[in-house]
Amino acid sequence: MTAQQRIYSRIAGTGSALPKRVVTNDELAQRVDTSDEWITARTGIRQRYVAGEGETTVSLARDAAIQAMDAAGVGPGDIDMIVLGTTTPNLIFPSSACLLQAELGIVGCPAFDVNAACSGFIYAMTVADKFIRTGDAKTVLVVGSETLTRMIDWSDRGTCVLFGDGAGAAVLRADADTGILSTHLHADGSKKELLWNPVGVSEGFKPEEENAGVRVLMTGNDVFKHAVKALDSVVEETLEANGLDRHDIDWLIPHQANLRIIEATAKRLDMPMDRVVVTVDQHGNTSSGSVPLALDFAVRSGKVQRGQLLLLEAFGGGFTWGSVLLRY
Ligand code: UT7
Repeated sequence: MTAQQRIYSRIAGTGSALPKRVVTNDELAQRVDTSDEWITARTGIRQRYVAGEGETTVSLARDAAIQAMDAAGVGPGDIDMIVLGTTTPNLIFPSSACLLQAELGIVGCPAFDVNAACSGFIYAMTVADKFIRTGDAKTVLVVGSETLTRMIDWSDRGTCVLFGDGAGAAVLRADADTGILSTHLHADGSKKELLWNPVGVSEGFKPEEENAGVRVLMTGNDVFKHAVKALDSVVEETLEANGLDRHDIDWLIPHQANLRIIEATAKRLDMPMDRVVVTVDQHGNTSSGSVPLALDFAVRSGKVQRGQLLLLEAFGGGFTWGSVLLRY
């Protein structure tokens, strides 16, 4: 290999996992003052999956990872790094990536979590890509997995109708020909209170309160505006960095928070909705699980074909946002 030859991170296989229990909009309308009409019209969400007993961020990650490894034709001995995007780890430590490593019978390779809220998978893929491109890793397991419903306030109609649980995974392998073309990450910590969970270990923890005060808080319409603007700008940035025209993208695989946000990005790309992968109707917002769930759905349903150009993007708490452009 000459010094000029580039190494790409190619998606060798994908997988996903969802909890067993489906919760419909009508079911939520029995708990809070909402309706199927409102939720569908404002968000596009029709149902979501909610983790039950024994279903955790790590168990969903494991099921998704096993599928992705099978699809890639790799075994535990081939994986030389695990990067897991999550904001709902099983434990504070060890990281969920370490717990996942043990579940998969993988020994010795580095394993760590990335907390970038809903952008977790985009951040995790970016980190994995850097390791592969520098030659430090050859086969990386990248996962986005969440059980966000565990910290939802089920009496807050502004948030409880939006979120669901789930996981997606991809095996990235070093490849001489094609794969990830560019990644673009951003954050703005000054807007933290528009979308956050105000409880951690070093701050906000109130052991005397039930659930220690853990809950997701969001100023939805402000987040909406920031999301549309940030995603517009990162999409432009990605096209420009690669000298591409917006019509060159074959598939948009967006974060699945709200159909109206997805449609706004598609409009920006002048992309018909049949070139956009939409799973928000089925899954709700699964945070860092959402992009890899949509990716796996697109692959398994035969929508996405080898050689096509995919644009993955996400926006979430932090704020964080970013994109990955890849030739599948
Ligand atoms: O993944 C991380 C990023 N997260 C997001 O991107 C989420 C971004 N935000 C959104 O998706 C939307 O802002 C929401 C779906 C959360 C809300 O939709 P909206 O069109 O922005 O509604 P709104 O917050 O401006 O509220 C409009 C009305 C309010 O009532 P009033 O004040 O007009 O009487 C809300 O109280 O809708 C009310 N409302 C509801 N009504 C029925 C809020 N939630 C509900 C509900 N059912 N579940």
